[in-house]
Amino acid sequence: MVREMTSKSFLKEIDFTKSELEGLIDSALQFKDLKKNRIPHKYLDGLNIALIFEKTSTRTRSAFTVAGQDLGMNVTYLGAGDIQLGKKESVIDTAKVLGSMFDGIEYRGFKQSDVEDLATYSGVPVWNGLTDTWHPTQMVADFMTMKEHFGSLEGLKLAYVGDGRNNMANSLLVTGAILGVDVAIIAPASLQPEDEIVALAHSHNNSANLTITDDIEAVAGANVLYTDVWVSMGEEVDFKERIDLLLPYQINAALVEKTGNPDVTVMHCLPAFHDLNTQIGQEIYDKYGLAELEITDEVFQKYSSTIFQEAENRMHSIKAIMYQSLNPL
Ligand code: CP
Ligand code: NVA
Repeated sequence: MVREMTSKSFLKEIDFTKSELEGLIDSALQFKDLKKNRIPHKYLDGLNIALIFEKTSTRTRSAFTVAGQDLGMNVTYLGAGDIQLGKKESVIDTAKVLGSMFDGIEYRGFKQSDVEDLATYSGVPVWNGLTDTWHPTQMVADFMTMKEHFGSLEGLKLAYVGDGRNNMANSLLVTGAILGVDVAIIAPASLQPEDEIVALAHSHNNSANLTITDDIEAVAGANVLYTDVWVSMGEEVDFKERIDLLLPYQINAALVEKTGNPDVTVMHCLPAFHDLNTQIGQEIYDKYGLAELEITDEVFQKYSSTIFQEAENRMHSIKAIMYQSLNPL
């Protein structure tokens, strides 16, 4: 039997109105306050949640784990290769089984349709911890961080530079539109968002200026410069080709200067390739002689307090998202 209770899931940004997303941001800020003041908030005591990760994760996994435990829940991690999913069992059968045992499920994977099926067939709230198309929990943390940094989201402009058709670019474009925050996606023509994503952003737009361009000068006037990795998890591409395409879109001191805004800040969802302290970073350096990719170490370090505040906010915002789904009231 298919139980229809997907409304409390968090699968993609367009399922939410501007005021619902603002409510989640404010709730996340309140949860952050409780945590900082060590005020217990085991509001979901005794519930059980499962975390399915078909791709690797540091922030999202840690955030769901700590947030779930702080809310009093029991958290079970089901990593790729740990369960039958994919190899021996379908998403639909897995959903029915997990839905009969758990009160909520986080899912990080590839196809958006998988997380949607999981929600439909499990009958319990499902939270999208990243798919190839969207990264919605990251959005609540990102716009929360912007609200903390600037005091309000009103009148802000975010310029995203880099791979403009990955999950992060899609999510930032659509969430900016819903929240009325101006977004410029600045990427080479072959790496710009798909028409379908741009159409969704326009159909959910609350008076934001939305720009898609390959012109790097479009960073002018930005309050936030944002970037992400040049090759996303699961992509099989020629790294050299990507580097050649995206090097002009690297966030470096000259690009920060081009915003013309002395109060600009820089954000990154992380992980980032800004030095040689990673295996892949070192391999790329050995092969192509490039020590920094999407962001230079100089810029990364200069804005690291915002970038790591953004990472911390994943936990507070995921707590707000799970609470909103499972709150018994
Ligand atoms: N930003 C983010 O989702 O990080 P992880 O891949 O480490 O979860
Ligand atoms: N675009 C990146 C985001 C990581 C948080 C990826 O999908 O790998």
